[in-house]
Amino acid sequence: MGKILVTRKIPKAGVDLLKAAGHQVRLWPKSTVMPRKELLKAAKGADGVLSLLTDRIDDAFFDAAGERLKIVANYAVGYDNFDLAAFKRRKILAANTPGILTAAVAEHAFALMMACAKRIPEADRFTRAGKYKGWEPELLLGTELTGKTIGILGLGRIGAQVAQRAVRGMEMKAMYHDMKRNEAFERETGAVFATVDELLKASDVVSLHVPLLPSTRHLIDAKKLRLMKRTAILINTARGPVVDEKALVAALKAKRIAAAGLDVYEDEPRLAPGLAKLPNAVLTPHTASATVETRTEMSKLAAQAIIDVLAGKTPPNLVPLP
Ligand code: DGY
Repeated sequence: MGKILVTRKIPKAGVDLLKAAGHQVRLWPKSTVMPRKELLKAAKGADGVLSLLTDRIDDAFFDAAGERLKIVANYAVGYDNFDLAAFKRRKILAANTPGILTAAVAEHAFALMMACAKRIPEADRFTRAGKYKGWEPELLLGTELTGKTIGILGLGRIGAQVAQRAVRGMEMKAMYHDMKRNEAFERETGAVFATVDELLKASDVVSLHVPLLPSTRHLIDAKKLRLMKRTAILINTARGPVVDEKALVAALKAKRIAAAGLDVYEDEPRLAPGLAKLPNAVLTPHTASATVETRTEMSKLAAQAIIDVLAGKTPPNLVPLP
């Protein structure tokens, strides 16, 4: 049976699966990121690794791990922490956790959108601070979403669910941009395919759902922010570097756009200077997938991929290597 390194404290269900399959599990017991030096040391001799999106898995990691390593399964759907070319060169398999976090992240994108539109965090702070002195006609005016247009950048599973919820639940109109058109989705939701610029100009809410790739880094920069409506809300539950965070802070300060709801940041866990002070930014600490159900399933799916590979089977959640 194999030696498995789990690089962070994760829900127990996945660790139990690994143990039940007879594997010897080495678990980093803390809920903090494993320091790089510790990570490389602990990887030595592992047959499988269950990694976190905060662990860089590259040639140096593979050198440290040694010859036995067959699979690294990421406890995340995103895998921009994987150097896929290095996986390919070394013939090591990569897995992720697709599908199971779609609803949790779509709900979170929606929560951020509602929080921005209805100014919920501001209103909460105001009320707790004892500033509420009685009903006022123009106190904390927000904006309605019903009938407005949502623009989805990246029509993967999560982007599609955000659009479906917006159309069905909030009677919103949807626009989307992706590498390819999805005509079935257009028929189902009435969504309109558009270029990035058309979408930014026409949307009341822009929700980002692209993976982080060289082509999507700073997809939303100062120039793109200038295309958006002054009343628009930007939501990012994808990856921080998709947005030029300094340019976003400037746009929010100057009220070039109305608000932003962010779950991810360009240089996590740091925030761009000034961001935390802005009343029109709603910020969550990369918790879009953080539901008990989803995080439990993520630990099981990542663990099962390792169990399958070490048993000579092909798991359904392998990441295609370039
Ligand atoms: C992911 O899975 O990629 C999220 O960012 C964390 O759940």
